[in-house]
Amino acid sequence: MEMKKILITGGAGYIGSHTAVELWNAGLEPIILDDFSNSQEEVLDRLEEITGKRFACYRGDCNQRAVLDQIAKDHQLEGVIHFAAFKAVGESTQQPLAYYKNNLGSLLVLLEFMREKGIFNLVFSSSCTVYGQPDVLPVTEATPRKDAESPYGNTKKIGEDILLDYVKSKPGIRVVALRYFNPVGAHPSAKIGELPMGTPQNLVPFITQTAAGIRQKLTLFGNDYDTPDGSCVRDYIHVVDLADAHVKALSFLFEKPLDFYDVFNVGTGRGNTVLEVIHAFEQVNGLKLAYEIGPRRAGDVVKTWADTQKINAVLGWYPKYSLEDCMRDSWRWQQTLAN
Ligand code: UD1
Repeated sequence: MEMKKILITGGAGYIGSHTAVELWNAGLEPIILDDFSNSQEEVLDRLEEITGKRFACYRGDCNQRAVLDQIAKDHQLEGVIHFAAFKAVGESTQQPLAYYKNNLGSLLVLLEFMREKGIFNLVFSSSCTVYGQPDVLPVTEATPRKDAESPYGNTKKIGEDILLDYVKSKPGIRVVALRYFNPVGAHPSAKIGELPMGTPQNLVPFITQTAAGIRQKLTLFGNDYDTPDGSCVRDYIHVVDLADAHVKALSFLFEKPLDFYDVFNVGTGRGNTVLEVIHAFEQVNGLKLAYEIGPRRAGDVVKTWADTQKINAVLGWYPKYSLEDCMRDSWRWQQTLAN
């Protein structure tokens, strides 16, 4: 039987590349579209080393119909996973139009494309940022969303709204939005992982770059919050577990009637403080990390973690990796970069 082909926009990126591997492992064939604005073509070689398969890859922007049409000409697509987006919170406050155009323009182009070509299944990358600072923890999917703190966050919120409105109009499509908590870690093979451009804004790449000597020290943004040790709490999810959630979401969609929309949290259900992350990193890798306590970061959520009962029960998805696994794999990946 021919494998079902799935278009992965942003498929050479951090989460996209790991999802390509998990799709392949599950008997689905990834077709990658990427503009390589925040990824490298070498990822294709790495994916081939891991899977033994050279995935079809198109260079292009999701806002351009021409490249999508070319892909549809070459391949019969059964679904799309839409990762391609800008994701830097700070940058989005400086360049809001670029964020709205790239993140939402591409979604509109993609939906039109899917309707015209009769592609019925879509998984959309959303974020726990849509909850802001939740009033009640853990956060369930029914927790009300809050006003976005940044244009980036707003693109995720509006993206969800567009999809829900669209499905309500009965265009004949099935959609799952996945709200990611904090993706970290790397493939256990250390062949793919996160490739932050410039100075990392996120915690774990900053930790691994500090341990590798690329950064002098990590600044912990605030230790006087109302949390067990005063530092912020997040739900850190291994990127391979997150990738697997996309495979489960697609299989779930294949079985659903048309004009279907649903949303799932993807997290571990466990909150960890920044200090706990640092200590897990030190302990599992036998290293001491240079860090200092700095002021709070503007706009930081104090604590958030996922209620995962819905994704556990409905998709049959459970995380397999611990925080220690995340820290071990992130560091192994960093070491391949430093060499
Ligand atoms: C951030 C965004 C989130 C977005 C995600 C995408 C904010 C408020 N949230 O998540 O909307 O979806 O990135 O990548 O910007 N930390 C330090 N020192 C550092 C870096 C981080 O102490 O050098 C702390 C932060 O204060 C936070 C935790 O580490 O408590 C995690 O930070 P980060 O990795 O940036 O993720 P989020 O802020 O959760």
